[in-house]
Amino acid sequence: MSKQLILALSKGRILDETLPLLADAGITPAEDLGKSRKLLFDTNLADVKLVVIRATDVPTYVQLGAADLGIAGKDVLLEHGAEGLYEPLDLDIARCKLMTAGVTGERPAHARRRVATKFVNIARRYYAEQGIQAEVIKLYGAMELAPLMNLADEIVDIVDTGNTLRANGMEPRELIAHISTRLVVNKAAMTMKHERIKPLLARLESAVKKRQ
Ligand code: ADP
Ligand code: PRP
Ligand code: MG
Repeated sequence: MSKQLILALSKGRILDETLPLLADAGITPAEDLGKSRKLLFDTNLADVKLVVIRATDVPTYVQLGAADLGIAGKDVLLEHGAEGLYEPLDLDIARCKLMTAGVTGERPAHARRRVATKFVNIARRYYAEQGIQAEVIKLYGAMELAPLMNLADEIVDIVDTGNTLRANGMEPRELIAHISTRLVVNKAAMTMKHERIKPLLARLESAVKKRQ
């Protein structure tokens, strides 16, 4: 059994909020993550290493045990599925909402609604639950453009301030889920490496509590 714990961090906006939280928990990378081209980092804790990867890859790394723990948005976790993962802690960062949205003032006209999103699994599940027939169109970004270009009738996307929707003549419609960033742990590691994971979890938990 490896003595190290590997914690997978999501690149991008989550990373910006994760590093101060890790610092509050007494975990600091051995070098500046922003300045380095490296992807694997030592920390001040001898048994903890960090990997910095695409947010959507974090559940995969943790599920397959390449990383023991990970930090990822609930949206990414809902889209990926929870198999092989525990989700013991809400880190209460990068809060936002997953919503449907459409052109302001318009009602979706198509009987079979065309929905553009990068969250295809969430969207399929959501519209099926609502009893709405939907053709889900996979996009990788700029979902807010799709209804304007008549690629779709509606989108499923992240909404925070609503500025991006407004700037593109769109409005939020239905709430699908409240989103925040979660700590996930590989189920096998939780058992096999419990003695190492327990204190790390406790550090993160108290850092989150201190902020509330
Ligand atoms: P991506 O390149 O996949 O959009 P981001 O770094 O922008 O990655 O977002 C990472 C995560 O941050 C998302 O999965 C979501 O949980 C959260 N998030 C995305 N957009 C916002 C936002 N506008 N406000 C707050 N949290 C957000
Ligand atoms: C995210 C998300 C929305 C926007 C919502 O985009 O995809 O477009 O934020 O936030 P708002 O309601 O406050 O405008 P992001 O800024 O991450 O850009 P991206 O397209 O690079 O993901
Ligand atoms: Mg983004």
